[in-house]
Amino acid sequence: MTEADDRVQAVRERYGRIAEGTESGCCGPSRCGPEPRVSLGVGYQESDLTSVPAEANLGLGCGAPLGFLALKPGETVLDLGSGPGLDVFLAARQVGLDGRVIGVDMTPAMLERARVSAAKLGLPQVEFRPGRLEALPVESATIDAVTSNCVINLVPDKRSVFAEIARVLRPGGRLVISDIVLNGRLPEVVEKDLLAYVGCVSGAMRQEEYFALVGAAGLEKVEVLRDVDYLAGLIASAPEEVQALEARTGVRREDVLGRVRSVTFRASKPVR
Ligand SMILES: C[S@@+](CC[C@H](N)C(=O)[O-])C[C@H]1O[C@@H](n2cnc3c(N)ncnc32)[C@H](O)[C@@H]1O
Repeated sequence: MTEADDRVQAVRERYGRIAEGTESGCCGPSRCGPEPRVSLGVGYQESDLTSVPAEANLGLGCGAPLGFLALKPGETVLDLGSGPGLDVFLAARQVGLDGRVIGVDMTPAMLERARVSAAKLGLPQVEFRPGRLEALPVESATIDAVTSNCVINLVPDKRSVFAEIARVLRPGGRLVISDIVLNGRLPEVVEKDLLAYVGCVSGAMRQEEYFALVGAAGLEKVEVLRDVDYLAGLIASAPEEVQALEARTGVRREDVLGRVRSVTFRASKPVR
Protein backbone atom coordinates (compact mmCIF):
# COMPACT_ATOMS: atom_id res chain seq x y z
CA MET A 1 0.00 0.00 0.00
CA THR A 2 1.21 3.53 -0.77
CA GLU A 3 1.17 6.33 1.80
CA ALA A 4 -1.89 7.76 0.01
CA ASP A 5 -3.69 4.39 0.30
CA ASP A 6 -2.88 4.31 4.03
CA ARG A 7 -4.38 7.77 4.45
CA VAL A 8 -7.55 6.88 2.57
CA GLN A 9 -7.90 3.73 4.70
CA ALA A 10 -7.39 5.74 7.92
CA VAL A 11 -10.08 8.20 6.78
CA ARG A 12 -12.51 5.35 6.00
CA GLU A 13 -11.94 3.70 9.37
CA ARG A 14 -12.32 6.96 11.27
CA TYR A 15 -15.56 7.96 9.53
CA GLY A 16 -16.82 4.40 9.97
CA ARG A 17 -16.44 4.80 13.73
CA ILE A 18 -18.09 8.24 13.62
CA ALA A 19 -21.05 6.80 11.65
CA GLU A 20 -21.43 3.98 14.16
CA GLY A 21 -21.34 6.43 17.05
CA THR A 22 -18.17 5.07 18.65
CA GLU A 23 -16.25 8.28 17.90
CA SER A 24 -17.50 11.81 17.46
CA GLY A 25 -16.68 14.93 15.53
CA CYS A 26 -14.45 15.85 12.65
CA CYS A 27 -11.42 17.14 14.43
CA GLY A 28 -10.37 14.74 17.12
CA PRO A 29 -11.40 12.11 19.57
CA SER A 30 -12.22 14.48 22.40
CA ARG A 31 -15.20 16.33 20.98
CA CYS A 32 -18.39 15.66 22.86
CA GLY A 33 -21.70 17.34 23.46
CA PRO A 34 -24.44 18.18 21.01
CA GLU A 35 -23.20 18.13 17.41
CA PRO A 36 -25.88 20.45 15.91
CA ARG A 37 -24.06 23.43 17.44
CA VAL A 38 -21.19 22.79 15.01
CA SER A 39 -23.55 22.92 12.01
CA LEU A 40 -25.17 26.13 13.26
CA GLY A 41 -21.71 27.64 13.66
CA VAL A 42 -20.76 26.95 10.02
CA GLY A 43 -23.89 28.49 8.51
CA TYR A 44 -26.87 26.11 8.60
CA GLN A 45 -30.25 27.48 9.66
CA GLU A 46 -31.97 25.97 12.66
CA SER A 47 -34.95 25.18 10.38
CA ASP A 48 -32.64 23.15 8.06
CA LEU A 49 -31.53 21.00 10.95
CA THR A 50 -34.98 20.39 12.38
CA SER A 51 -36.30 19.34 8.95
CA VAL A 52 -34.12 16.18 8.83
CA PRO A 53 -33.72 13.22 11.21
CA ALA A 54 -31.22 14.04 13.99
CA GLU A 55 -29.03 11.14 12.74
CA ALA A 56 -28.37 13.07 9.49
CA ASN A 57 -26.47 15.84 11.27
CA LEU A 58 -23.16 14.78 12.77
CA GLY A 59 -21.67 18.27 12.69
CA LEU A 60 -19.10 17.21 10.09
CA GLY A 61 -19.37 20.16 7.69
CA CYS A 62 -17.18 23.25 7.56
CA GLY A 63 -19.63 25.47 5.65
CA ALA A 64 -23.20 25.39 4.33
CA PRO A 65 -22.67 25.16 0.54
CA LEU A 66 -26.29 24.48 -0.45
CA GLY A 67 -27.24 27.99 0.61
CA PHE A 68 -25.25 29.25 -2.42
CA LEU A 69 -26.19 26.60 -4.99
CA ALA A 70 -29.60 28.10 -5.97
CA LEU A 71 -31.09 24.72 -6.89
CA LYS A 72 -34.16 24.63 -9.11
CA PRO A 73 -36.96 22.06 -9.24
CA GLY A 74 -36.10 19.17 -11.57
CA GLU A 75 -32.30 19.48 -11.31
CA THR A 76 -29.89 16.58 -10.76
CA VAL A 77 -27.47 17.15 -7.87
CA LEU A 78 -24.39 15.21 -6.75
CA ASP A 79 -23.04 15.44 -3.17
CA LEU A 80 -19.43 14.28 -2.85
CA GLY A 81 -18.68 12.59 0.48
CA SER A 82 -22.31 12.74 1.54
CA GLY A 83 -21.69 11.27 5.02
CA PRO A 84 -24.92 11.00 7.04
CA GLY A 85 -26.87 12.75 4.25
CA LEU A 86 -27.65 16.23 5.59
CA ASP A 87 -26.99 18.14 2.34
CA VAL A 88 -28.58 15.40 0.22
CA PHE A 89 -31.86 15.70 2.16
CA LEU A 90 -31.87 19.50 2.05
CA ALA A 91 -31.17 19.42 -1.72
CA ALA A 92 -33.94 16.86 -2.28
CA ARG A 93 -36.53 19.30 -0.92
CA GLN A 94 -35.29 22.00 -3.30
CA VAL A 95 -35.23 19.90 -6.50
CA GLY A 96 -38.53 18.19 -5.67
CA LEU A 97 -39.91 14.93 -7.02
CA ASP A 98 -38.91 15.76 -10.61
CA GLY A 99 -35.29 16.18 -9.56
CA ARG A 100 -32.68 13.74 -8.37
CA VAL A 101 -30.00 13.82 -5.67
CA ILE A 102 -27.10 11.34 -5.59
CA GLY A 103 -24.81 11.10 -2.56
CA VAL A 104 -21.47 9.30 -2.99
CA ASP A 105 -19.39 8.09 -0.04
CA MET A 106 -16.71 5.42 0.44
CA THR A 107 -17.57 4.49 4.05
CA PRO A 108 -20.14 1.67 4.32
CA ALA A 109 -21.41 2.68 7.78
CA MET A 110 -22.02 6.28 6.58
CA LEU A 111 -24.00 4.99 3.57
CA GLU A 112 -26.04 2.75 5.87
CA ARG A 113 -26.76 5.61 8.28
CA ALA A 114 -27.80 7.91 5.41
CA ARG A 115 -30.08 5.24 3.89
CA VAL A 116 -31.89 4.72 7.20
CA SER A 117 -32.63 8.47 7.37
CA ALA A 118 -33.70 8.50 3.69
CA ALA A 119 -36.18 5.71 4.41
CA LYS A 120 -37.57 7.70 7.39
CA LEU A 121 -38.02 10.78 5.20
CA GLY A 122 -39.47 8.83 2.23
CA LEU A 123 -37.65 10.74 -0.50
CA PRO A 124 -37.76 8.69 -3.75
CA GLN A 125 -35.54 11.20 -5.58
CA VAL A 126 -32.58 10.39 -3.28
CA GLU A 127 -29.94 7.72 -3.87
CA PHE A 128 -26.70 6.91 -1.99
CA ARG A 129 -23.94 5.22 -3.99
CA PRO A 130 -20.75 3.64 -2.65
CA GLY A 131 -17.66 5.02 -4.36
CA ARG A 132 -14.54 7.15 -4.30
CA LEU A 133 -14.40 10.82 -5.27
CA GLU A 134 -11.31 10.04 -7.36
CA ALA A 135 -13.35 7.67 -9.61
CA LEU A 136 -16.99 8.66 -9.31
CA PRO A 137 -19.66 6.01 -9.96
CA VAL A 138 -21.57 8.54 -12.09
CA GLU A 139 -22.10 8.85 -15.86
CA SER A 140 -20.36 11.66 -17.71
CA ALA A 141 -22.22 14.95 -18.35
CA THR A 142 -25.33 13.99 -16.33
CA ILE A 143 -25.15 16.37 -13.32
CA ASP A 144 -26.49 19.94 -13.11
CA ALA A 145 -24.92 20.87 -9.78
CA VAL A 146 -22.16 19.37 -7.60
CA THR A 147 -21.76 20.09 -3.91
CA SER A 148 -19.41 18.83 -1.21
CA ASN A 149 -18.89 19.76 2.43
CA CYS A 150 -15.51 19.35 4.12
CA VAL A 151 -14.41 16.27 2.18
CA ILE A 152 -11.89 17.07 -0.59
CA ASN A 153 -9.26 18.14 1.97
CA LEU A 154 -9.28 14.50 3.13
CA VAL A 155 -8.47 13.09 -0.33
CA PRO A 156 -4.76 12.78 -1.18
CA ASP A 157 -5.36 12.88 -4.98
CA LYS A 158 -7.29 16.16 -5.29
CA ARG A 159 -6.38 16.54 -8.99
CA SER A 160 -8.45 13.43 -9.82
CA VAL A 161 -11.39 14.71 -7.77
CA PHE A 162 -11.63 17.96 -9.76
CA ALA A 163 -11.15 16.09 -13.05
CA GLU A 164 -14.03 13.81 -12.06
CA ILE A 165 -16.25 16.78 -11.16
CA ALA A 166 -15.56 18.27 -14.61
CA ARG A 167 -16.36 14.92 -16.25
CA VAL A 168 -19.75 14.36 -14.57
CA LEU A 169 -21.07 17.95 -14.86
CA ARG A 170 -23.17 18.85 -17.88
CA PRO A 171 -21.73 21.68 -19.99
CA GLY A 172 -22.77 24.87 -18.15
CA GLY A 173 -23.19 22.93 -14.88
CA ARG A 174 -22.01 24.44 -11.60
CA LEU A 175 -20.49 23.53 -8.26
CA VAL A 176 -20.47 25.04 -4.79
CA ILE A 177 -18.03 23.42 -2.36
CA SER A 178 -17.07 24.11 1.25
CA ASP A 179 -13.62 22.88 2.20
CA ILE A 180 -10.53 23.50 4.28
CA VAL A 181 -7.51 25.14 2.63
CA LEU A 182 -4.30 26.60 4.01
CA ASN A 183 -3.14 30.16 3.94
CA GLY A 184 0.57 29.52 4.53
CA ARG A 185 2.32 26.38 5.74
CA LEU A 186 1.42 24.53 8.92
CA PRO A 187 4.18 23.54 11.34
CA GLU A 188 5.61 20.21 10.18
CA VAL A 189 4.51 18.39 13.30
CA VAL A 190 0.87 19.31 12.60
CA GLU A 191 1.25 18.48 8.92
CA LYS A 192 2.51 15.02 9.82
CA ASP A 193 -0.07 14.32 12.49
CA LEU A 194 -2.17 11.65 10.84
CA LEU A 195 -4.98 12.18 13.28
CA ALA A 196 -5.06 15.85 12.35
CA TYR A 197 -5.18 14.72 8.73
CA VAL A 198 -8.21 12.61 9.35
CA GLY A 199 -9.64 15.44 11.43
CA CYS A 200 -9.75 17.89 8.51
CA VAL A 201 -6.66 19.98 9.10
CA SER A 202 -3.33 18.80 7.79
CA GLY A 203 -4.62 16.99 4.68
CA ALA A 204 -5.53 20.43 3.41
CA MET A 205 -3.61 22.07 0.60
CA ARG A 206 -2.45 25.66 0.14
CA GLN A 207 -5.31 27.61 -1.39
CA GLU A 208 -3.43 28.77 -4.50
CA GLU A 209 -2.47 25.14 -5.33
CA TYR A 210 -6.03 24.01 -4.64
CA PHE A 211 -7.59 26.59 -6.98
CA ALA A 212 -4.92 25.83 -9.60
CA LEU A 213 -6.23 22.24 -9.64
CA VAL A 214 -9.80 23.51 -10.08
CA GLY A 215 -8.67 25.51 -13.12
CA ALA A 216 -6.51 22.68 -14.48
CA ALA A 217 -9.62 20.46 -14.54
CA GLY A 218 -11.21 22.93 -16.98
CA LEU A 219 -13.57 24.50 -14.44
CA GLU A 220 -13.96 28.28 -14.68
CA LYS A 221 -15.42 31.40 -13.02
CA VAL A 222 -14.06 30.46 -9.59
CA GLU A 223 -15.53 32.78 -6.97
CA VAL A 224 -14.89 32.59 -3.21
CA LEU A 225 -18.21 33.13 -1.42
CA ARG A 226 -17.10 32.73 2.19
CA ASP A 227 -13.66 32.59 3.80
CA VAL A 228 -13.37 32.25 7.58
CA ASP A 229 -10.70 31.18 10.05
CA TYR A 230 -11.51 27.54 10.76
CA LEU A 231 -9.57 27.35 14.03
CA ALA A 232 -11.17 30.52 15.40
CA GLY A 233 -14.56 28.90 14.76
CA LEU A 234 -13.38 25.68 16.38
CA ILE A 235 -12.08 27.54 19.45
CA ALA A 236 -15.55 29.07 19.81
CA SER A 237 -17.58 25.90 19.20
CA ALA A 238 -15.32 23.10 20.49
CA PRO A 239 -12.36 24.47 22.52
CA GLU A 240 -11.50 20.97 23.77
CA GLU A 241 -10.57 20.01 20.20
CA VAL A 242 -8.03 22.79 19.93
CA GLN A 243 -6.59 21.87 23.35
CA ALA A 244 -6.26 18.26 22.19
CA LEU A 245 -4.46 19.33 18.99
CA GLU A 246 -2.08 21.52 21.04
CA ALA A 247 -1.37 18.67 23.45
CA ARG A 248 -0.77 16.15 20.65
CA THR A 249 1.53 18.29 18.56
CA GLY A 250 3.06 20.73 21.07
CA VAL A 251 2.10 23.57 18.70
CA ARG A 252 0.32 26.57 20.22
CA ARG A 253 -2.84 27.90 18.64
CA GLU A 254 -1.17 31.29 18.03
CA ASP A 255 1.19 29.53 15.61
CA VAL A 256 -1.61 28.26 13.37
CA LEU A 257 -4.37 30.83 13.89
CA GLY A 258 -5.43 32.42 10.58
CA ARG A 259 -3.67 29.76 8.48
CA VAL A 260 -6.46 27.20 8.29
CA ARG A 261 -9.32 28.63 6.24
CA SER A 262 -12.82 27.30 5.73
CA VAL A 263 -13.76 28.45 2.24
CA THR A 264 -16.94 28.09 0.24
CA PHE A 265 -16.51 28.66 -3.48
CA ARG A 266 -18.42 28.49 -6.73
CA ALA A 267 -17.16 27.44 -10.18
CA SER A 268 -18.71 26.19 -13.38
CA LYS A 269 -18.05 23.97 -16.37
CA PRO A 270 -17.86 25.93 -19.62
CA VAL A 271 -20.91 25.64 -21.86
CA ARG A 272 -18.65 24.31 -24.62
C1 LIG B 1 -16.04 15.35 7.11
S1 LIG B 1 -17.17 14.12 6.57
C2 LIG B 1 -18.39 15.14 5.77
C3 LIG B 1 -19.70 14.44 5.55
C4 LIG B 1 -20.82 15.32 4.99
N1 LIG B 1 -20.40 16.02 3.81
C5 LIG B 1 -21.33 16.27 6.03
O1 LIG B 1 -21.11 17.49 5.89
O2 LIG B 1 -21.97 15.80 6.99
C6 LIG B 1 -16.30 13.37 5.23
C7 LIG B 1 -17.02 12.25 4.49
O3 LIG B 1 -16.33 12.03 3.25
C8 LIG B 1 -16.14 10.65 3.03
N2 LIG B 1 -14.91 10.52 2.23
C9 LIG B 1 -13.67 10.92 2.56
N3 LIG B 1 -12.80 10.67 1.57
C10 LIG B 1 -13.52 10.09 0.56
C11 LIG B 1 -13.19 9.61 -0.75
N4 LIG B 1 -11.93 9.64 -1.20
N5 LIG B 1 -14.18 9.10 -1.51
C12 LIG B 1 -15.47 9.03 -1.03
N6 LIG B 1 -15.83 9.46 0.20
C13 LIG B 1 -14.87 10.01 0.98
C14 LIG B 1 -16.05 10.05 4.42
O4 LIG B 1 -16.42 8.69 4.41
C15 LIG B 1 -17.04 10.92 5.21
O5 LIG B 1 -18.33 10.39 5.20
